[in-house]
Amino acid sequence: MRIDIIAVLPELLESPFKHSILKRAQQKGLLEVVVHDLRAFGSGKHRQIDDYQYGGGAGMVLMPEPMAICIDQLMAQRDYDDIIYLTPDGERLDQGIANQLSLHKNLLLICGHYKGLDERIREHYVTREISIGDYVLSGGELAAAIVVDALGRLLPGVLNDETSALFDSFQDQLLAPPVYTRPADFRGQEVPPVLLSGNDKAIDDWRYEQSLQRTQQRRPDLLEGQPED
Ligand code: ADE
Repeated sequence: MRIDIIAVLPELLESPFKHSILKRAQQKGLLEVVVHDLRAFGSGKHRQIDDYQYGGGAGMVLMPEPMAICIDQLMAQRDYDDIIYLTPDGERLDQGIANQLSLHKNLLLICGHYKGLDERIREHYVTREISIGDYVLSGGELAAAIVVDALGRLLPGVLNDETSALFDSFQDQLLAPPVYTRPADFRGQEVPPVLLSGNDKAIDDWRYEQSLQRTQQRRPDLLEGQPED
C-alpha cells in the first residue's frame, strides 16, 4: 500500500513511521509513506498557503490553489482509491473503517490546519472525511499518523504472527482480555492459574469471558446488536 500525505507541518510526521511495526512494514516493501509539504506549492515569495476567510471571522483558511496543484500532481502519477481529509467533522475512525481502508492500494491523506480547507477542495477532490475523535487538534498531521498506524499494522505480512491483528481489541467488537508475563507472582499478585494450566481450550474460554466482561463494564455500546450466546 502507498499512502501520500499532504501536510502543512511535515516535520510532525518525521518520526512516527520510523519505528517498530511501521518501520518494518516499509522495510519489507509492504507500505510506502510519502509526505508532501504543502508550502512547496504556495504562491509568491512567501509561499503563501492560507488566507482570511470570506465573510470575516477569526482564523485563516487553507487556500484552494496550492492544495489543488499538489493534489493534481499526485493524481497525475497514480489513481487513488480514496482522497481522505482529516477533520473533526468527518466520520469517526473505528476498527471497521481501518479494516476497509487497509484493503486499498493508494491513499491520499490531506491534513487541515487553521480553520480548515476551502470547501471547494472538499467538494471537488475529497472522497472521504475522517475524524479520529470528538475533540479538535491543532492540525491533521497527528490524526494522519494515527490513521497510517492503524492501517499499516493490518497489512498482510506486517505483523510477525499474521493472525495477531485478528485478536486485537475491536476486531470482534470486544475489548482485549488482560495479559500477563513473567514472573508468575509479582509482589504477591499472582497470574490467573488457568493461564499456567497448559489447557488451550480453558485458556481460550477464560480469555473470551474476560473480554466479554471487560466490554460489558467499559464499553457496553460495543455489544449492542451482538448475537447472544
Ligand atoms: N484535525 C483536527 N482535529 C481533528 C480530529 N479530531 N480528527 C481528525 N483531524 C483533525
